[in-house]
Amino acid sequence: MTTTWPIPGIGYGGDYNPEQWPRATWDDDVTLMRQAGINLVSVGMWAWALIETDEGVFDFSWLDDLLDLLHRNGIAVDLGTPTAAPPAWFFAKYPESRVVTRDGVALGFGSRGMVSPSSPAYREAIVRIASALAERYAHHPAVVMWHVHNEYGAPVSECYSHASVLAFRTWLREKYQSLDALNHAWGTTVWGQHYTSWEHIGAPAAAPSVVNPSQRLDFARFSDHQLRQCFIAERDAIRAHAAQPITTNFMANQHWGVNLWEWAREVDIVSDDHYLVAADPEAEIGLAIAADLTRSLAGGRPWIMLEHSTSGVNWQERNVAKRPGEMARNSMAHLARGADAICFFQVRGARWGQEKFHSAMIPHAGRDTRIFREVVALGETLGQLGDVRGSTVHAEVAFLWDFESMWAQDLEWRPSVDLGHKERMRAWYEPFWRRNITVDFVHPSHDLTGYRLVVAPAQYLLSKADAANLDAFVARGGTLLASCFTAAVDDNDAVHEGGYLAPLSETFGIRVHEYLPLRQGDALRVALEGTHYGADVWAEDIEPLSAQTVATYIDGPVPGAPAITRNTRGEGVAWYVSTRLGTEGITTVVEQAVTDAGVSAPVTPPGVELVTRTGDNGSFAVAINHRDTPAELQLHGTDMITNLPIPTPLRIDGGAIVVVRLTPEHPSLSTPTESFMERTN
Ligand code: GAL
Repeated sequence: MTTTWPIPGIGYGGDYNPEQWPRATWDDDVTLMRQAGINLVSVGMWAWALIETDEGVFDFSWLDDLLDLLHRNGIAVDLGTPTAAPPAWFFAKYPESRVVTRDGVALGFGSRGMVSPSSPAYREAIVRIASALAERYAHHPAVVMWHVHNEYGAPVSECYSHASVLAFRTWLREKYQSLDALNHAWGTTVWGQHYTSWEHIGAPAAAPSVVNPSQRLDFARFSDHQLRQCFIAERDAIRAHAAQPITTNFMANQHWGVNLWEWAREVDIVSDDHYLVAADPEAEIGLAIAADLTRSLAGGRPWIMLEHSTSGVNWQERNVAKRPGEMARNSMAHLARGADAICFFQVRGARWGQEKFHSAMIPHAGRDTRIFREVVALGETLGQLGDVRGSTVHAEVAFLWDFESMWAQDLEWRPSVDLGHKERMRAWYEPFWRRNITVDFVHPSHDLTGYRLVVAPAQYLLSKADAANLDAFVARGGTLLASCFTAAVDDNDAVHEGGYLAPLSETFGIRVHEYLPLRQGDALRVALEGTHYGADVWAEDIEPLSAQTVATYIDGPVPGAPAITRNTRGEGVAWYVSTRLGTEGITTVVEQAVTDAGVSAPVTPPGVELVTRTGDNGSFAVAINHRDTPAELQLHGTDMITNLPIPTPLRIDGGAIVVVRLTPEHPSLSTPTESFMERTN
């Protein structure tokens, strides 16, 4: 693993696909790139057909020309391998390599992401192209990083081809060693699925009714493993020739069937793609989740924002354009949360094809546009923030994020389709974002030392070992806060022996007797310290053992019964919220859990995001005003753009961003001066 950062200062740039344009346009492009301060572009991801024109026949002439041109202009290259879109000749020769869906449909050519990761022909082809590229460009002075494939797992992560079935059997043999172990883990006595031969086991393809969820979960794990093996094969092929860091672009909070905790171990630098959800009026919160998750995947080390958009995308139902300044706010929010490079899809907008309505750094209307002016301005800003590079973000709160648990929860026949992990994650994250309490994400098996508070908004699946890890965290003095439907099943998706939540029963000091989902649209209320709070979708019949009841159900399926409990265990505290609590209730519970945990954070006016990074060059606060109205902040230091001392209080205009080099006497921003409730309301 190499951790050399590829670029001096903050990286800035985007995906660049000049093969879509005449050669003369490339010269204009580099002129505009220089004007914008672009220093890093990703190239080659979609150019397999132009590089390997027939099996084993290579044409590097245009790529040689491109890399030389970029290098002459001082623009570094993140060189992509084009393996997410094999050429037409490949599918003509190896039609069996196509992805087969659960319904048995072999997906066609003319798109991308349509190859089976288990196809032997594909595995051979990716190593050949990756090796050829690495052999040729390992020492090219423009190439500072390698970018393998594109967004593994998207748009499809599972393949049900014959090759996949064979590989699945091999994977299962390795995992279980014996059929007895597999039969036990999958509970194959249910619906008469008992296996007597490995050859009888298939992929969990579409069947008349619901397919065994343990089998489906294992198939999801297997599919993730196959994709990762493809990455590793390419990475190692590159590494045989080249020393630059190797990445592949994640989509951290999309969970497209890739367990990114495992992937993060395999890359030299973590990079992420993030696109705003246009339908979300507070999309900056979703962005913050993605950025915090990416930083966490990177183990706290700096990471690369490899793709976001200058304005609207093309693939949502309503592709809302970004408002003036929004692109910079998004970029700086990523930077604040640990990104040391800010890149976009893409440098020049495509005239042809599927993505022609996607925004770009150089839009269709050219340089004399709002977007290009904002791109140039952002380049200037980032150019002044070189000292921030390498600094890190500190968090006292961790949220559990477990891709496998999410896959399992998404399978069929759960108690209610209305309870989703993504929605709960966002609902519980929001009050922390509004309060500027920085959050890391962790897997429940991770070392939790150093965190004061661990939040589990959606930990449906939990192994016994991971439950013991959480219990030890509490016993040592940590605060644990869990939402409903926690630890229902073990890592085989089997209900825990002893019932739901059983391995955490002593931690929370409760037993869960029954899940009580509500009818669609029904709501209920809980009473907490005399105030009524709304909830919906879900209730649970819980029995306090050692826990104290903090809130009771007023109505719903179990009026008068405990709804929220708090248990002291060892040196710590564990909260359990047995319903899908609404925003106000969550805010109140979070306030109390934060107090239990002794977590503090800087106070800012509503809508102002404030994150601090600290490193060898000092501490830096990034303040972003997401509202249209001015706000005032108490900070002490120097404005990194104007180099002037900032006034106290600092007035930050509506929509504006300020980056402050904090004075060493005031490096910490953690003095709350108003109550949590005032702040979040
Ligand atoms: C990403 C993909 C890019 C581009 C972009 C458009 O998921 O990696 O190649 O398609 O979406 O938003």
